[in-house]
Amino acid sequence: MSEGKILIIDSEEKSSSLIRIILMNRGFDVNIAYNGKQGVDSFSTNRVDIVYLAMTLSDMDPLYMIREFKKRDLNIIIVALIPQDAINLMQEAFSHGVYDYVKKPPQPEEVYFTTRRAMLQRKYLINSSLALNSLEERNISLQRQNIMLAKRIEESTKNLTQLYEDLRDTYMRTIKALAQAIDARDHYTHSHSENVTKYADIMAVEMGLDTQKIEEITDACQLHDLGKIGVHDYILTKAGKLTPEEFEEVKLHALKGAQILEPLTFLEGVIRIVKQHHERYDGQGYPTGLKGEQIDLGARIMAVADTYDAMTSARPYRTTPLAKEEAVAEIKKCSGAQFDPKVVAVFLKVVNRF
Ligand SMILES: [Fe+2]
Ligand SMILES: [Fe+2]
Repeated sequence: MSEGKILIIDSEEKSSSLIRIILMNRGFDVNIAYNGKQGVDSFSTNRVDIVYLAMTLSDMDPLYMIREFKKRDLNIIIVALIPQDAINLMQEAFSHGVYDYVKKPPQPEEVYFTTRRAMLQRKYLINSSLALNSLEERNISLQRQNIMLAKRIEESTKNLTQLYEDLRDTYMRTIKALAQAIDARDHYTHSHSENVTKYADIMAVEMGLDTQKIEEITDACQLHDLGKIGVHDYILTKAGKLTPEEFEEVKLHALKGAQILEPLTFLEGVIRIVKQHHERYDGQGYPTGLKGEQIDLGARIMAVADTYDAMTSARPYRTTPLAKEEAVAEIKKCSGAQFDPKVVAVFLKVVNRF
């Protein structure tokens, strides 16, 4: 088996033949080129491990040849052949990537050991390149896998988001259907939640609230009396005045509504408004007795809308509803007590659009 492939490029036949004999005897394959052009041709057509290159070629610049060889094979080992006192040629040759030099006339032991060292270096460089290449390939394959994974995650996230939104929609539709059924249970309050939603929505838009908050208020209005599901029919439909105990039971509907919705964590803001829709600006409301700005703005808006609709619709305890002007006057009178004055001001501005 060959110890390595050597190409000698030297116009002096004597030294090149000598190197060939030395190396062939030690098991290397050796080719000789007698000028630069032949050397470049031979390099292009044969596999070469080490080039012995005379720095004194006349037909081609050896430095140019070194650059070309390195371009074609980054791991090529080049040993310079120089005349006895031409060490000055070496500085530039080294800067071009020459591995070592041998002085003419070549000494057998020096040639052999230089070649052996050069061959070890060649193997080391090739192995490093292979390792680097496989690392790069692995990197590229990892990057590809990363991209694919990212795409899959993106798709799954999209699907999940869609599923979540569908589920949310289904929940909302179910609950709203339930709320409508509760509205319809008592023919007096039929469409009550719808009216409250409409009024509150007009006020919220007039106040310049953001879309998300308006949506929250809309949902809360549609669901606000959901807790009445737990109030006895006879109390809801009672024509006369409620006893204190009966009134206490009615009051529970705000808290019960919030409790029913509690598992739906995405409705956090809506639940807060439902719970607070009977709180009063002066702190005299229920279930907690919150005051002023402690009450969610949505609940403060809804309180006005809710009371206005209750006054202008027929109720078991009042078959003839109040006229619009009377109801407006009543709301105005309660500004700062039951209602937030800022909300009442907006109500007065938009009530003609109800
Ligand atoms: Fe209510
Ligand atoms: Fe209500």
